[in-house]
Amino acid sequence: MTIERASVIEEIEQLRLSALTCDKCELAQTRTNVVFGDGNPDTPLVIIGEGPGENEDATGKPFVGRAGALLDQVLRENGLTRKHVYITNVIKCRACISEGGRTRNRPPRTSEMAACIPWLERQLEIIQPLVILCLGAPAANTIIHKDFRMTQERGRFFETKYARYAIAALHPAYVLRQDGEMYDQTRTSLVADIAAARRKVIEARKEPKPTLF
Ligand code: URA
Repeated sequence: MTIERASVIEEIEQLRLSALTCDKCELAQTRTNVVFGDGNPDTPLVIIGEGPGENEDATGKPFVGRAGALLDQVLRENGLTRKHVYITNVIKCRACISEGGRTRNRPPRTSEMAACIPWLERQLEIIQPLVILCLGAPAANTIIHKDFRMTQERGRFFETKYARYAIAALHPAYVLRQDGEMYDQTRTSLVADIAAARRKVIEARKEPKPTLF
């Protein structure tokens, strides 16, 4: 069903309010905030990361730590800000473990992903993006295909049920873990994949809309 664009913002807000009280998995017990999404829901370009870390859990906003600062920079290098895109994650609550009085991030469990993905699916159903940019393998495995191989398949467009075009790029946190030449190379590839996603939006807007009859 096509949703009037004017109601997209309202529908996303309604969905966000429902997600704030989600208790479908055990992460509800340890989270500080549900990290639902940020940016402009009335956009053709949705960016999807893996899940919130410590800073995101504390603020309720996706990509606000070091990886977020890099994401904002590489978006800006492509003439984009958070006002042009919508940013969310595969899972909406921080997955972490406590060790020696400290908490550290851990990968989400399959059961946590399964419980959370319907929120992402509903977000995408409302927004109906033309292009999805997946940051990192967990997002690509969820949106593009379950055996997605970043080394072989990043930077290519795939048709998906969530958007006519989806592409995966290296996660900014992965880029930040590289040194020297590898840092430069991985950062350049992230900038290039964002540029490709942006170009695809421009191209796709010119394509005729699929009709039912
Ligand atoms: N990494 C992610 O995948 N998402 C965030 O929101 C922050 C860091």
